[in-house]
Amino acid sequence: MRAAITLISGAPKVIEIQEKPVPEAKKGWVLIKIKAFGLNRSEMFTRQGHSPNVIFPRIQGIECVGTVEEDLSGTYTKGQKVAAIMGGMGRDFDGGYAEYTLVPLQIVFPFESNLPWSTLGAIPEMFQTVSGSLTQALEVQKGETLLIRGGTSSIGMLSCQLAKHLGLTVISTTRNEVKKKFLIENGADHVLIDNGTVSPELRTLFPEGVNKVLELIGIKTLKDSLKCIKPKGIVCMTGILGGEWTLKEFTPMGDIPSLGRLTVYMGDATNLRKDLLQDFIDAVENGEITLNIDKVFSLDQIVEAHTYMESNQAKGKLVVEI
Ligand SMILES: NC(=O)c1ccc[n+]([C@@H]2O[C@H](COP(=O)([O-])OP(=O)(O)OC[C@H]3O[C@@H](n4cnc5c(N)ncnc54)[C@H](OP(=O)(O)O)[C@@H]3O)[C@@H](O)[C@H]2O)c1
Repeated sequence: MRAAITLISGAPKVIEIQEKPVPEAKKGWVLIKIKAFGLNRSEMFTRQGHSPNVIFPRIQGIECVGTVEEDLSGTYTKGQKVAAIMGGMGRDFDGGYAEYTLVPLQIVFPFESNLPWSTLGAIPEMFQTVSGSLTQALEVQKGETLLIRGGTSSIGMLSCQLAKHLGLTVISTTRNEVKKKFLIENGADHVLIDNGTVSPELRTLFPEGVNKVLELIGIKTLKDSLKCIKPKGIVCMTGILGGEWTLKEFTPMGDIPSLGRLTVYMGDATNLRKDLLQDFIDAVENGEITLNIDKVFSLDQIVEAHTYMESNQAKGKLVVEI
């Protein structure tokens, strides 16, 4: 098979297309013939060398969609459509940047759909993150207000759609004035330009603050996000677009407003109910949810795709179709 192998940590060009043997089926694992996969920023960080536990060379890729090639357990039949998500994929063992991958049975999710593979490839990890963050970590309710920090990211765009679908008022942020219209077209009720501090402007719109904040920029804006919530409001940090991992100074009785709550979402496949994935795919197929796919690349264009992701020009999910 052909595979995109990250040889060492570094710039996008450390990823190289090579011929490799197709992995051999083994008990408890499923061999998938990959049709497409989404690109994720966590893969960019791993490639840059920020995942100390990942040993190179490694076939990266924390998600994929495709068809079952071989399943010794008999759970799935050859040709059945499946998604595989996280669980160490592309990190502890070789992942989705290839024509085939061998993954543990428990991270495989079956589905039925007539959508093109390039669309299906955008779904699994995005849906898992968005649904887990909104419904499990933030416990969003109809009628609430939600601030999405890092609104133009693919996770941010889809969160807005799901939140609007669930009946919330959404305020999305971007650093880039030009992208404002994409956020409005995507359903945001308000857009704030984020220079690191949005709480004063937010308070002019919502003097009491918002119910919930989905923090995708991370540590860089976390303290300001905590200033945006009402009493009993929740901030959930799901992303680290800002690239900082550690908060140097944090004063809980001061930085967290009284009765406010701070949580994180670090989901994995066990957070994803199989029927919810099928429901989501059906909603995309019926046109109830529109995915924001910015570009579809071929496997040969993987270096270009990583370079594009790193340039922050994307206005939605990046997909590679095999
Ligand atoms: N917890 C989980 O389970 C989980 C799962 C998947 C992803 N994530 C995380 O969720 C976040 C979003 O991922 P994604 O793939 O959706 O991202 P993405 O689509 O690649 O996001 C791109 C956008 O991020 C913004 N951005 C980039 N660098 C930034 C910086 N230094 N400060 C502020 N904004 C910056 C830019 O927006 P503007 O130019 O418009 O400001 C850019 O357009 C990532 O941190 C990712 O690691 C978490």
